Amino acid sequence: MKILFIGDIFGRPGRTIVKDRLPELRKAHSPDLVIANCENAAAGFGITPPLAEELFDLGIDVMTTGNHVWDKREIIDYFQMADGNPHSPARRLLRPANLSPGLPGWGVYEGQKNSVAYAVLNLQGRVFMGSNDDPFRYVDRLLEQVKAKIVFVDFHAEATSEKVSFGWYLDGRATAVVGTHTHIPTADETVLPKGTAYITDVGMTGPYDSVIGVKKEQVIERFLSGMPARFESAIGDVRLCAVVVECNDQTGRASRIERLMVR
Ligand SMILES: [Fe+2]
Ligand SMILES: [Fe+2]
Repeated sequence: MKILFIGDIFGRPGRTIVKDRLPELRKAHSPDLVIANCENAAAGFGITPPLAEELFDLGIDVMTTGNHVWDKREIIDYFQMADGNPHSPARRLLRPANLSPGLPGWGVYEGQKNSVAYAVLNLQGRVFMGSNDDPFRYVDRLLEQVKAKIVFVDFHAEATSEKVSFGWYLDGRATAVVGTHTHIPTADETVLPKGTAYITDVGMTGPYDSVIGVKKEQVIERFLSGMPARFESAIGDVRLCAVVVECNDQTGRASRIERLMVR
């Protein structure tokens, strides 16, 4: 199986470049499965049900999120729309699994593509992040329940040390561990010795003439003044950042990871 994973889609610029360039990425890489982190799809902050539908309509199979998942409250209703249908679009939108117990939504999706079973897991780190549960022990518990051999993990975290540790921790137990959240791609993509594809951060799909997606003047002003400020999506230098992971259908082991940046 070949999996295309698109990093944090930021605002309209991010959504537009996915719409414009996904067809040619499909042609060039023939992915069986397309996954994308969409926590910043709505002007940088969260995702709304219509935007989720818009992205699913582009042929994204599963979407992950992160700390921004609740920024648009309407997404709670969307999670509730899944209502017992294990494969509805609403069920294929994930939020980090290791948040407080009982919250709406799911952090794991198990499905099939071309008769091959796969699982997508979304977890969030703890270093410089919210007060979520320990992702290390939490992922152990999740993996006990997952039946698929192909297990794709979006680890939404800030600190490189926590992300690199998580990759090593899951080596041989996940097909891929890819980092999201920092919006800056790292050049450390590799297949770890026991067959887990790893990258510390896939990078943002959005405007790079910015501070991680936001108009740079607004962020600089906030650093200078310490005052709360309105943050708006930037527009310039839009790039799509992604990785392609290739793995064995029977064992789930990764054989290759390629980093992509499309302008
Ligand atoms: Fe993000
Ligand atoms: Fe984030």
